[in-house]
Amino acid sequence: MGSYSEGIERLVRPHLAGFTGYSASVSPDTLAGKVDVPVESVIKMNANENPYGCSPRVLQALADDSHFHIYPDDGQQVLRKLLAGYAGVDAGRIVVTSGSNQLIDMLVRLFVGPGDEVINCVPTFDIYRFSTEICGGTLVNVNRDEKFAVDVNAVKSAVNSRTKLIFLATPNNPTGNVIPQPDILEIIETGVPVVVDEAYYEFSGETVMPLIDRYSNLMVIRSFSKWAGLAGLRVGYGIFPPRIAGYLMAIKIPHNVNVAAEIAVRESLADLEYLQDRVKAIVSERERLYHELHKIEWLKPFPSQANFVYCEVLKGSAGDLHQRLQRKGILVRYFDKPLLRNSIRISAGRPEHTGALVKALHELDQ
Ligand SMILES: Cc1ncc(COP(=O)(O)O)c(C=O)c1O
Repeated sequence: MGSYSEGIERLVRPHLAGFTGYSASVSPDTLAGKVDVPVESVIKMNANENPYGCSPRVLQALADDSHFHIYPDDGQQVLRKLLAGYAGVDAGRIVVTSGSNQLIDMLVRLFVGPGDEVINCVPTFDIYRFSTEICGGTLVNVNRDEKFAVDVNAVKSAVNSRTKLIFLATPNNPTGNVIPQPDILEIIETGVPVVVDEAYYEFSGETVMPLIDRYSNLMVIRSFSKWAGLAGLRVGYGIFPPRIAGYLMAIKIPHNVNVAAEIAVRESLADLEYLQDRVKAIVSERERLYHELHKIEWLKPFPSQANFVYCEVLKGSAGDLHQRLQRKGILVRYFDKPLLRNSIRISAGRPEHTGALVKALHELDQ
């Protein structure tokens, strides 16, 4: 007795031994005592969230609702219809999830088993790796060039009979650049299932949606976390060939989108003008951020079409810079790995956030 419960980790699936999870951004709640400012005044520029929050209509509708004890509609009929209107397709092509991360995970679970390959254009969003490895798939990394453009020929040469998915993030996280449409098209024409991740579409204004009827291997995923300010309520959705949407609806966890999230989507879509104005403000702040960073000689910012700017640190350590900014109560994301050397990613904030960041960078002059 008792021997089973001791050391049950030996029963964990072997390919997950030593698995490195996703390293999520720091939450201000964990910073008490580690920053020189009150936790409430920490400026959060590390997770590409919307600095204006969600639509006030969402807050009001959540306060007014009294149905939180009832399960949401598992068939997502109202949501799928609303999102079909927003995306301009039939509702049968839409699937809604608890954040678009969940959709990435479901897509990998639908297509990828042990021995199957997933093409990943690195550096890119780490969840593609995360989900592929959990499913026992093989990640085929294809390096981007020095400006982080996707190497289309290398992607095409990496395709073989074991390839099950190609992930293309546009704009890419963390580098912020879009993939030109002709490049995406060339990759779609391989016939392999292609997932175009448009989590930042509302900031770039570029989409492959006009191609969706022409290509049965094209799938598009989107998020409400960034443009609609709903990161904390978790809403993502995707547009799929109808039969793939059917499979995804079948394999999803029941009631995966909660009632509060459902209300939030409805109210956000009823307040598009307000949210689009906020998107415009964020885009203009992103441009200002880029230009301010450009003036600092020890930083090399990259042009971005998302709601953040990726920036190489040319002198001193990005890790130290991140720590010193954190002390001052400004959170940014930092990287130091083979394809993201000594760099930081800064989310576009409100004008006063840009002001505080730029002031802090000048004070910290490395
Ligand atoms: C490219 C990309 N795709 C998907 C996501 C996931 O967003 P969410 O799960 O919040 O919808 C993110 C979040 O940072 C992202 O950068």
